[in-house]
Parts: sequence; structure tokens; C-alpha cells
Amino acid sequence: MRYLTFALGKGRLARQTLETFEKIGITCQEMKDKNTRKLIFVNEERKLRFFLSKGPDVPTYVEYGAADIGIVGKDTILEEKRNIYEVLDLGFGKCRMCVCGPKDARELLQHQELIRVATKYPNIAKNYFYNKKHQTVEIIKLNGSIELAPIVGLSEVIVDIVETGSTLRENGLNVLEEICPLSARMVVNQVSMKMEHERITKLISDLKELLSGENNEKMI
Ligand code: PRP
Repeated sequence: MRYLTFALGKGRLARQTLETFEKIGITCQEMKDKNTRKLIFVNEERKLRFFLSKGPDVPTYVEYGAADIGIVGKDTILEEKRNIYEVLDLGFGKCRMCVCGPKDARELLQHQELIRVATKYPNIAKNYFYNKKHQTVEIIKLNGSIELAPIVGLSEVIVDIVETGSTLRENGLNVLEEICPLSARMVVNQVSMKMEHERITKLISDLKELLSGENNEKMI
């Protein structure tokens, strides 16, 4: 049996993924060591390998088959536009992709003004403004702390992730328009889906069963 390789986005998503996998009996003891600098971890018994990468690189590893499976946010899937199968919504990492800015920027969005939009997600922003709203805007790519842009006058609005809303609140900004809901998704390499069909579909069905159980518990 060959190894089934998982690419996990570093950080919170990877931790939540491992917690979820433990509940269906998939463990990786090695990965729990917080001080390790290792990048790849093995579960010999089940022939599984896990590695951590930057979130935006997960779809790349999966498209090229360096990983059979990836766990990544829907935002990254939309932004990276890779040829991969999205097979499951894991239900954690829930947040929203939004257009945000100061209250008075709301008018600029309604009157189709030529505005500047700062974002870490230029493809998502382009798709939203050009194809959905039919508004011509200037997209400015940033790499983090996006909320700064309208405060210091780099842009009128931003396109960014809103989770609790506290970053916006603490910086005097608001959600002006909602683009789409986001959460962690499982993605699969297109060839692996055929070659490892049995193992991968079993994994998906185990996860689905777990998630529907958890949802039922929430409703009780
Ligand atoms: C993300 C996002 C927002 C913030 C939203 O940034 O870009 O800034 O979290 O979360 P909240 O609604 O709960 O405040 P992240 O912490 O990933 O860092 P970044 O600014 O470097 O992108």
C-alpha cells in the first residue's frame, strides 16, 4: 500500500484538522510536538503522511499530485483557481469574505465609482467587482494587515476575511457588502481520486458521518 499524503495549511486550520481526524481514528503523534521543526509526519500503521505548508500553497501541492489530499480554506481555493476536486466542507474555520471600509465608502459602492480596493485576494476581488457588480475598480495587492489600507488612504475599501469582526471594530471599519461564506474544505488530486478511490471515499464518508453526528448534537 502506498502512502496517502495530506497537505495541511499551517496554523489553526491544521490543528482543527488533526482534532477532526482523531475523532475518526486517524492520529499522528509526531505532529503534536509543538517544538518540532520537522515538516513531514508519518502514520506508519495506516500508511499516511502529513505535511504542513503555507495555506495558499496547499492547492498547488494537490494539483501536481505531491499531496493526494489537502485541507484548506475556501478563500484559498477561490483565489488559487487550481485544477483540483473540492469534495467536502469540514464545517470549521467559518468566516466571511467581505468588502469592508469606513461607513461613507458605502456610497462609492452604490454609484459605481472608480475606487481602489486593497486585498490579499486579487482574483476574488476582481471576480466580485468585474463579473458580479460590473464595477471597474483598481485592485491593490497587499500581503497582510489589510485593514490598514483605508485608514492610511491607500484604498477606499478592502476585500478581506471577517471572522469575529473585532479587527474591523477596533479600527473603525465596517462590513459594507458580503461576498461569500467561507470554511475549511477537503480537496483531492484528480488522479488520486481515481487511483486511490476506495481509501479516499472511505475517508470522506467517515468524515461526513462524524460531521452529521456533530450537527445533530448541536440541534438537540
Ligand atoms: C485575518 C483577516 C482579518 C482578521 C479577521 O487576518 O485578514 O485581518 O483575520 O478576523 P476577525 O474578524 O476575527 O478580527 P490574519 O490574522 O490572518 O492576519 P493578516 O492580517 O496578516 O492577514
